[in-house]
Amino acid sequence: SGNSSIVVALDGPAASGKGTLARLISDHYGLAYLDTGTLYRGVAWLVMREGGDPADRERAAAAARDYAIEKLSGADIRTKEVGAAASVVAANSEVRAALLDFQRRFAETPPKNAVGAVLDGRDIGTVVCPDATVKFFVTASPKTRAHRRWLELIEARPELQESEIYQDLLERDARDAARDDAPMAAAQDAELLDTTHLSIDAAFAAARRVIDGVFRRC
Ligand code: DC
Repeated sequence: SGNSSIVVALDGPAASGKGTLARLISDHYGLAYLDTGTLYRGVAWLVMREGGDPADRERAAAAARDYAIEKLSGADIRTKEVGAAASVVAANSEVRAALLDFQRRFAETPPKNAVGAVLDGRDIGTVVCPDATVKFFVTASPKTRAHRRWLELIEARPELQESEIYQDLLERDARDAARDDAPMAAAQDAELLDTTHLSIDAAFAAARRVIDGVFRRC
């Protein structure tokens, strides 16, 4: 594919730890980082800001085609409402198609002259970068993921119940895994990393062992 850049792909469900790992990997190896969930969250936010319905296919597709990071300045895209809406727009093939080039370009020609890129999402190893240098599928039990997400959100929203977050995660996982276009899935050649019983340090050490092993062979 003409891709000479080093690409680390991390896929997995919400709050599995893939974002934290992606950031650590990016810092450690000097790779540019793209959190692809922010693209779907951004599209969902743009639709909702105008009072639109994320399930409105035409409208979501138009927002994805016109997507620009500058339009999101000051937007709080990390809320659970935006996460749920992002999962809805992500099932729309026109939205996915509109966001694909940007992600591939980022991987092939990373910004700031970086030697490579880390991308995290749901379909990086399967669709966006099938030739990635290293692929991970990061998981954790739903209860563990709900607890982590709750810890992230309680400061801003102390009224949020862990049980509610748990239900949201299960719904989102089901939608992301069941859609026809680029469903959340582990690539055949992805390394499975279950972080349920791992600290961040331990998960990062496990990821480094895999990456260093692959880099030695390149
Ligand atoms: O990783 P996240 O929670 O920020 O992602 C939000 C939603 O975006 C997720 O529920 C599904 C969608 N998404 C996707 O379909 N493909 C990606 N590569 C990244 C995110």
